[in-house]
Order: sequence, then C-alpha cells, then structure tokens
Amino acid sequence: MMWVKVELKLFIWVLLVLSLVNLCIGFDPVDNYLIDCGSSTNTTVGNRVFLADSTNSPILSTPQSIFANTSTNSTSVTYGLGLYQTARVFNGTSVYTFPILKHGRHWIRLYFFPFVFQSVNMSMAKFSVSAQNFALLANFQPESDSVVKEYSLNITSDNLVVTFKPAENSFAFLNALEVVSVPDELITDDAEKVDKSGKFQGLGNQALETVERVNMGGPLVSPTNDTLGRTWLPDQDFLLHKNLATFVSKIGAVKYAAGGATRDIAPVSVYGTVTEMNSADDPNSNFNVTWSFDIDSGFDYLVRFHFCDIVSMSANQLIFNVFINTVLVYKNLEPSQIEANLATPFYMDFTTGLSGSTKLLVSIGPSTSVSDAYPNAILNGLEIMKMNNSKGSLNGAGSGSLTPGTSSGSKTTIGLIVGVIVGVLVAVVLVLVLFLFCRKRNRKLARANHSKTSWIPFSTNGVVSYTTGKNFGNGGIPFAALQEATNNFDESLVIGVGGFGKVYKAVLGDGTKVAAKRANPLSQQGLTEFRTEIEMLSQFRHRHLVSLIGFCDEHNEMILVYEYMENGTLKGHLYDSNLPSLSWKQRLEICIGSARGLHYLHTSAAKATIHRDVKSANILLDENLMAKVADFGLSKVGPDLDQTHVSTAVKGSFGYLDPEYYRRQQLTEKSDVYSFGVVLFEVLCARPVIDPSLPREMVNLAEWAMKFQKSGQLEQIVDPKLAGKIKPDSLRKFGETAEKCLSDYGVDRPTIGDVLWNLEYVLQLQEAVVPNDLNEDSTINIGELSPQVNNVTNGETRLGVSTVNDLSGASMSQVFSDLVKSEGR
Ligand SMILES: *[C@@H]1O[C@H](CO)[C@@H](O)[C@H](O)[C@H]1NC(C)=O
Ligand SMILES: *[C@@H]1O[C@H](CO)[C@@H](O)[C@H](O)[C@H]1NC(C)=O
Ligand SMILES: *[C@@H]1O[C@H](CO)[C@@H](O)[C@H](O)[C@H]1NC(C)=O
Ligand SMILES: *[C@@H]1O[C@H](CO)[C@@H](O)[C@H](O)[C@H]1NC(C)=O
Ligand SMILES: *[C@@H]1O[C@H](CO)[C@@H](O)[C@H](O)[C@H]1NC(C)=O
Ligand SMILES: *[C@@H]1O[C@H](CO)[C@@H](O)[C@H](O)[C@H]1NC(C)=O
Ligand SMILES: *[C@@H]1O[C@H](CO)[C@@H](O)[C@H](O)[C@H]1NC(C)=O
Ligand SMILES: *[C@@H]1O[C@H](CO)[C@@H](O)[C@H](O)[C@H]1NC(C)=O
Ligand SMILES: *[C@@H]1O[C@H](CO)[C@@H](O)[C@H](O)[C@H]1NC(C)=O
Repeated sequence: MMWVKVELKLFIWVLLVLSLVNLCIGFDPVDNYLIDCGSSTNTTVGNRVFLADSTNSPILSTPQSIFANTSTNSTSVTYGLGLYQTARVFNGTSVYTFPILKHGRHWIRLYFFPFVFQSVNMSMAKFSVSAQNFALLANFQPESDSVVKEYSLNITSDNLVVTFKPAENSFAFLNALEVVSVPDELITDDAEKVDKSGKFQGLGNQALETVERVNMGGPLVSPTNDTLGRTWLPDQDFLLHKNLATFVSKIGAVKYAAGGATRDIAPVSVYGTVTEMNSADDPNSNFNVTWSFDIDSGFDYLVRFHFCDIVSMSANQLIFNVFINTVLVYKNLEPSQIEANLATPFYMDFTTGLSGSTKLLVSIGPSTSVSDAYPNAILNGLEIMKMNNSKGSLNGAGSGSLTPGTSSGSKTTIGLIVGVIVGVLVAVVLVLVLFLFCRKRNRKLARANHSKTSWIPFSTNGVVSYTTGKNFGNGGIPFAALQEATNNFDESLVIGVGGFGKVYKAVLGDGTKVAAKRANPLSQQGLTEFRTEIEMLSQFRHRHLVSLIGFCDEHNEMILVYEYMENGTLKGHLYDSNLPSLSWKQRLEICIGSARGLHYLHTSAAKATIHRDVKSANILLDENLMAKVADFGLSKVGPDLDQTHVSTAVKGSFGYLDPEYYRRQQLTEKSDVYSFGVVLFEVLCARPVIDPSLPREMVNLAEWAMKFQKSGQLEQIVDPKLAGKIKPDSLRKFGETAEKCLSDYGVDRPTIGDVLWNLEYVLQLQEAVVPNDLNEDSTINIGELSPQVNNVTNGETRLGVSTVNDLSGASMSQVFSDLVKSEGR
C-alpha cells in the first residue's frame, strides 16, 4: 500500500512539473519572422530578437529603399523602443515574400513611427499595404507618433506576400515587421451573431484587424507577458462611467482547465483581473457598466469577451447580462454553469452586423430575473476585431487586388465579384434616380399651375444646379467638378466626419460654396443612408432644413452636395471651440428655427418623418445664424395611422437617445422630441451631453439638468456666459419646456409643435413684449392637452408656422403643390 501511495505522489509530481514546463514555454510558433527594418544590428525586445535587415534581404524585393535612423524617441511606446529608431523608406512598390511552413492563421504586425531623416519627412508618407488578397491599409498616412497595426490572416499558400505601395508622388516606410504563426484554436470558425439570427460561419477565412484589446480591471499587459506577443490595454479610458465600476485583481486564483480557455487565448494577467459593478454594498443596485470603443462604420466586428469568476466565494453567486450596442447578447450568464470550478477562464465570441455607427458599446449589468442573487456583473477582458468586407478590405477603400503575382484565377473571381457589386450599385442608383425623376415630374406637373419657372431637380434657393441633360443619369454633379471643387478632396477642407463619410467644403465652378459629403465607398450603410438622405431631402424643402443641391454617383463614388452653412454646427458654438459665444436671444432663435424644421418633418406629409438623430451637431447655422436641421441619413417614415410606432433597431446618438425608444425599440415622433429636449439643456448649459470626465452625477447632461430643473434651481447650471442675462420668467418657461420633452414616456411629451410654441413664448418673455394681462398659464400648457388638441392649426394660426394641414388622403402631387403654395407666401 505504502508503495502505491508514494508512486502515485511521484506520478502527480511529474505531471505537475511537466505541465509547469509546458506553461512556461507556451506556444512555439513554426513561422516566426521578426524584422527590425533598416537596422544594421539585431534588436532584442523582452524574450524576442528582431533581426537586422541586411541590404539585400532575400525576402524583400524593392526598386530602391533608404535606411533611415533617428535618435528621437517615440513618446507613446510601451514595448520595443529600439524598433522605432530605424526604418526602411520605399520609393516604389516593395514586396516581402515570407515562406510559410505551416498553413493557418498568422499575425502580421506592422510598426510605424514617422521621424525625419535627412531630407525625408516620414510624416509625408502615404501608402497602401496588402497581404494575400486583403487590403490592410489604403492611402495610409501615419499619425505623428508610433503605432502598431495588428492583423491576423489564415495563410493557405506556401508564401505570404506583403506589398507596400506608395501613393502617387509619395513613399512608404516601415520600422518593424512581424509575421508569426498563431495557434489554430485561437479563432474558431463560428461565432454567435449579435442580431441572434444564428451563427456566423466562416471566421476561418476572415482577415481580422485588432481594433482594441483590453485587460479589464488591470494594468497594461505587454507582449512579454503574453504567449502570443499581444498587447492588452487597461480599460479605464474606455469606461463610460468610471465610478460605476470597481477593479479586482487575483492573478494567483486563475485555474486554466481542460476544454476551457488556455493561456494562449488570454494570459493570467488578463483573466486574473476584473472590472465589476460598484454596487457599494447596496443589494438594490441596478445599473450597467459600459465601455465605449471607436470603430469604423460599415464593417462587421468580431467581439470576444473573456470571463473568469475570481470574485465569487462559491458557485451560483454570480449571474448577469451582457450587451453589445444595447442588444442583450447573453441573458443570465452564470459562470458557474459554464465552468464548474470558480476562477476558471472561458470566453465567448459574437459578430456584429454592419453598422453606420462609429462607436461600439459593451455593457454588463445584473440579471433582474433572478432576484435572490446579489447584483453583480464582471468582465475580465475584451477583444474587438474588424472583419474584412466583401471586397476583401479592412480599410474601407480600395481592394486587395494591388498584390502583384496573385493567381489569375483569384483575380478573375475578385474582378467578377467587384463587377457584380458595382453593377448592383449602379442599378440601384439608376432605379432610384428614375424614381426620383418620375416623382419630380409629377410634382412639376402639379406645380406648373402655380408657377411658370421650370422645375430643375434639386435646384434650390437660386443655386445653379447641374442636374440637367446628359449628366442627369449620373445623379447630377460630375465627379470631376467635385474633385476640382474640393481640391481633390483635400483633407484641409474637411469640415465634418460622420458615419457616412467625410464632409468637405467646396467651391463649384460658378463660385457657389457648397458642402460635399463623400460616402465611404465600401460602406453598405453608406448606400442606405445615401438613399434615405436623397429621398428625404428631395421630398422636403423648408427654410429650416438643410437643402440638397445635387449628388454625384460616378466612379463608384457617392457624394451628396448641400448648401454650405457658413457658421457650422450649433454644437461648435456652444463648447469645445473658440467661436464667439451666442446670446440667449440668438440661442432661442436657433432652437425655434430647428423646432420649425422638425415640426415640418413631423407634420408636412401624411406620415410623419422621424429624424432619429436630433443633436446639436446636426443643427447647422448659416451666415445669419439661421438654424437648419441636417443629416437625414437615419430618418424613417413614421407609423401608419392605425399604428402607434415603428419597430426598428435602435439608432441615434448616445446621450440623446429616447430611453423609451431603446427600452422598447419602438420609434415615434416623440423620440425626436426627447432628443430635442436634450439639445435645449445643451443650449442652456453649454456642455457636452455625455462628459465622462465629470463626477458621476454630472456625466449625463439630461439626468443632471433634470435634477436641477425639478428642484427649481436651474439657474445654478446656466452657461456662465449667460449668467444674469436670462430673465427669470424666460428661464422658468424654458426649463419647463425642456423638462416636458424629457418625460419618460412619449405620451407625456409635448409635440414638437407645442415645443415650438413654448419656445416662441420663452423668447417673448425674454423680450418682454408680452402684455402683463396675458396670463401665461392660460396659453397652451404643454402636456395637459391631448395630442389631438395640440394640432398644427394652433401653431399655424398663432405663429405662422408654415406647414400643410391634414394631408392624409391627399395625393403626393397635391401635397407638393400645397407645399409650394405655403412656402411661397
Ligand atoms: C542576428 O541574429 C541572427 C540569428 O541569431 C544571426 O544569424 C545574425 O548574424 C545576427 N546579426 C547580427 C548583425 O548580429
Ligand atoms: C545613423 O546611422 C549612421 C550610419 O550607421 C550613423 O553614422 C549615424 O550616427 C546614425 N544616426 C543616428 C541619428 O543615429
Ligand atoms: C531614448 O531612449 C533611450 C532609452 O530609454 C535613452 O537612452 C535615450 O537617451 C533617449 N533619447 C532621447 C533623444 O531622448
Ligand atoms: C526609385 O529609385 C530608383 C533608383 O533611384 C529609380 O530607378 C526608380 O525609378 C525610383 N522609383 C520611383 C517609383 O520613384
Ligand atoms: C513633417 O511633416 C509633418 C506633416 O506634414 C509636419 O507637421 C512636420 O512639421 C514636418 N517636420 C519637419 C521637421 O519638417
Ligand atoms: C484556414 O483556411 C482553410 C481553408 O479554408 C481551412 O481549412 C482552415 O481550417 C483554416 N484555418 C484556420 C485556423 O481557421
Ligand atoms: C509581467 O511579467 C513579469 C515577469 O514575469 C511580472 O513581474 C509582471 O507582474 C507581469 N506583468 C503583468 C501586467 O502581469
Ligand atoms: C443595461 O443596458 C441595456 C441595454 O442598453 C438596457 O436595456 C438595460 O435597461 C440597462 N440596465 C439598466 C439597469 O440600466
Ligand atoms: C472576407 O474575405 C473572405 C475571403 O476573401 C470572404 O470569403 C468573406 O466573405 C469576406 N468577409 C465578408 C464579411 O465579406
């Protein structure tokens, strides 16, 4: 018996030692190319050696390259400082060819730090990078400090070809390069879709770009502490409300288990730290912990959650919900149901659909359906990886076909796919143009009775339109004209960037200043929004809506051209800029103007149009500071008369979102009213709607301002620049109006027509032209009247709001001719 025991002990010992050895060594990559470009000496970083890059490297083919060096240090580097002090500068297309011993996924890491070497200022570089058939970077211009771009690709050929192609009259450069095998099990072939429409299959073929890799509740983890050389950033900067979270570290507690996550999936430094709810011992705590990440719109993303319950004392204590972009992706996640032992790591993958949003939100919150569990929720780590789009691109421009030497077979396929896509796009646009044209013709016929001037599509306010004759099939303005007008899309002319693309200031041939919104050419979302915007803006013309001058659809480019708004956005005049501050009267007039625009949207057609993205950044000001509502890309036609709402995926901007809308995903005009209420407080307080840098109770403007409004202390939070300049009555009425807009339930909110009326009144109170005997409370009191009573007639007769009443049943052309009449007077 004794013998057996001893033997058993020994056996366990040997096993332990073996497994320890195994753990220490970690993953041993078959392909492991580490190159310190432009360096004449090997550079050791942690436990890895980046090889000197000799003059004639067999794996590099380049017409000419310069070896550059500097003694300047990049300030943001946390790993491999030495790698950034040398670089190779390429004057022509240059190709690295790496022999691949083991097919499968590989990291490709590119290190960039633009410095000045002799006469070469590397900040001036502009180039594209592709690998296999994937476009990794297009017209990339490195930031002023160092950056590492990380990709992972499944390489199924015996060579990996990485191509650097300088833009015309420019050059490319590279400080260091890694091509390293990744264990097969790191990325499995499928993942749950966020929209719950089943599983995404085919991840194995996706090219992935690491957008963010975060260690919740812990410090930065450098490549030295990760078996796969990854960097994990701390999560503090991504937390939306820092005070809602606390951090726990128990590195020693982590127990990897067979079948669960391995050290290669994520290291102990990640699984051993956690961000959890800051419940402050309150068993009634009920809130989410949310992180916000910047992403590019128009791509799918793979989101990986890492969990390891190091906070519970026993099993079944922790149960919580997990959200991506406010969608509940995992209800009642109970770590002890997934890994029986506490502190055992596991992970979950989700793919998001295409989205026009440039933010990705991840939230965790307590389960509300299980009442006896202590409210808590945890997250240990998070990875966000961008997936290539259907054109094999990871950067929204160009395609991977710049790789020379690809087999003609795959080229033809790509050509075919691109051809089909272009064909479909062109067809869609043609149909659309035809549709718009027919509609315009109907309107023209209807209008002909009232006016002798001929109708030119999109011509507005006397601005000359290009939408005539031969160009009409292309949607109007020739691409070449816009190229010239924007100085070939000069970055210095960019006046705005949105989910859809960039907006440029442009001057047309006849001297007209316009704003040209150029769609991100590969964004599916872009196409939808483009279409919505054309449809909306060609249907609605109003003094307080920004007008469309024309559009361009050529060379696979989609560009919308609007009237130029000299004074930019309302937001720009409120904070974070040096623009002169606006007086209270000016602010009220802007609010009134934008309310008019929205009122027109809500009421001028049989079905209301809901803007869905009302915010101060979408209210533009012309040279006279007249307000115009812009950006109709998200707009939706409202509910049918027999329905009360439209069900739709929640879209809009954080901080302005109607809570009822995102609770119930049901959209009504009242959602715009809510957002407008937030704008009103923004105008009053001149601060951002979400400001994570403020103490917790101040972060969300709507919540914070409502507290002061409800306690009758609104004057305390008025923009200091307005201090003492607002008459108390005016302020009181303004606060009441905003408060009603922010009512929890849509039915309790006023219509935008009421809001408009009340704002007019606020202005009158300020100007003191209100006769004293007119008791304010005898006028329309928002909220007390039912929506039917608050109809447009009130607004129209009292305020001269130009609008069209009771359009249900009227034909479209009738509507339009009425509209023209009402505008004309
Ligand atoms: C760099 O390291 C490699 C491999 O260890 C070695 O063959 C080479 O001679 C070294 N080069 C220099 C310049 O030290
Ligand atoms: C760059 O390299 C050259 C040649 O090796 C050397 O003479 C020079 O001092 C280096 N310059 C810097 C800034 O390191
Ligand atoms: C760059 O960093 C290295 C290592 O930290 C240091 O020795 C060197 O003095 C720094 N150079 C400059 C110009 O700051
Ligand atoms: C790069 O430089 C080489 C040598 O000076 C020259 O022959 C080649 O034409 C240049 N290529 C480009 C694209 O400028
Ligand atoms: C290099 O170019 C960048 C971007 O154009 C510029 O900001 C910087 O001042 C230039 N540096 C030098 C030393 O010329
Ligand atoms: C790489 O792609 C091949 C061919 O599509 C596939 O069989 C393999 O499973 C993939 N490998 C990984 C690690 O996804
Ligand atoms: C990284 O590893 C070193 C040595 O192995 C260790 O001292 C350090 O705490 C680790 N850092 C993190 C963030 O885990
Ligand atoms: C947490 O976030 C989700 C999605 O945004 C939301 O539905 C839920 O009500 C939130 N929970 C709490 C307690 O705020
Ligand atoms: C990414 O590229 C692969 C290979 O070209 C393709 O099969 C896949 O459909 C692409 N992904 C998307 C989301 O289009």
